[in-house]
Amino acid sequence: MERRNGTCIVVGASSGIGLAVARRLAQGGRKVAMLARRERELAAQVHTANDVLGKPLAHAYVHDAGDLDAVEPLFARIEQELGPVDEVHFVAGVMPPVAIDEFDLAKDRQQVQVNMLGCMAWANAAAQRFLARKSGCFVGVSSVAQDRGRVGKPGYHASKAGMDTFLESLRNRLWRHGVQVTTIRPGFVETPMTQGLQLKGAISADRAAELILKARDRRKTVAYVPFKWRLIMFVIRNIPSFLFRRLSI
Ligand SMILES: NC(=O)c1ccc[n+]([C@@H]2O[C@H](COP(=O)([O-])OP(=O)(O)OC[C@H]3O[C@@H](n4cnc5c(N)ncnc54)[C@H](OP(=O)(O)O)[C@@H]3O)[C@@H](O)[C@H]2O)c1
Repeated sequence: MERRNGTCIVVGASSGIGLAVARRLAQGGRKVAMLARRERELAAQVHTANDVLGKPLAHAYVHDAGDLDAVEPLFARIEQELGPVDEVHFVAGVMPPVAIDEFDLAKDRQQVQVNMLGCMAWANAAAQRFLARKSGCFVGVSSVAQDRGRVGKPGYHASKAGMDTFLESLRNRLWRHGVQVTTIRPGFVETPMTQGLQLKGAISADRAAELILKARDRRKTVAYVPFKWRLIMFVIRNIPSFLFRRLSI
């Protein structure tokens, strides 16, 4: 396991999986820049994390991942204020409700802008620096939703598939230069995003964060979280198309 001690960035750290990852990083003694849009929520979470730790390791940065031009200057600002970054987690994501007979470009665009382009912007900003330093780790939270185009949320599936493929390309470019790119495909996790969906067998956000950091430590290329989703998605991916569309899943 590679020991890192630089600054970490967690994009999407005000709730759910990103908050749990940020907390665990700070508990491990790392300086963490916690990014999200909701200023008050973020400030409260940073305050609580530092209170528990007794040290000011968590730092709040208000950021909209859909504001792509803001990424490069914010990355530079974080490095100036907290020191060199050697680990970035892109966890931010949106999944608006979409009715089965709804075809709404505004919702599709928002998901592509945040889930896919936002990830690409942060991954590019990290890759340039990590390549020059010949080290660093980028973790992108995709989803099992990327594995197949299901009927429920076309924009969500497509945005996750796009980010997932982008990260594979980046990994194939960077591994020979000592830079790690790990893609996480969570199954069901109990978070504000999935509140009220009654997902059977969902794990807690903290358990997801634990498994994500384990995958990072093991330098995994792609990790299903938890592991059983690798088997479930293997089956789903291999259902022939003519049958899959009849299942309406
Ligand atoms: N929960 C699941 O079952 C599940 C399964 C597979 C994949 N995922 C993925 O896991 C990631 C985390 O989701 P979650 O379940 O933990 O949901 P969540 O609690 O809703 O967390 C989403 C996080 O993303 C941030 N975010 C959303 N839009 C943003 C934007 N434009 N700019 C910056 N930050 C933004 C939110 O903060 P603000 O609202 O404050 O900006 C929040 O911190 C998402 O990418 C999601 O697609 C979740």
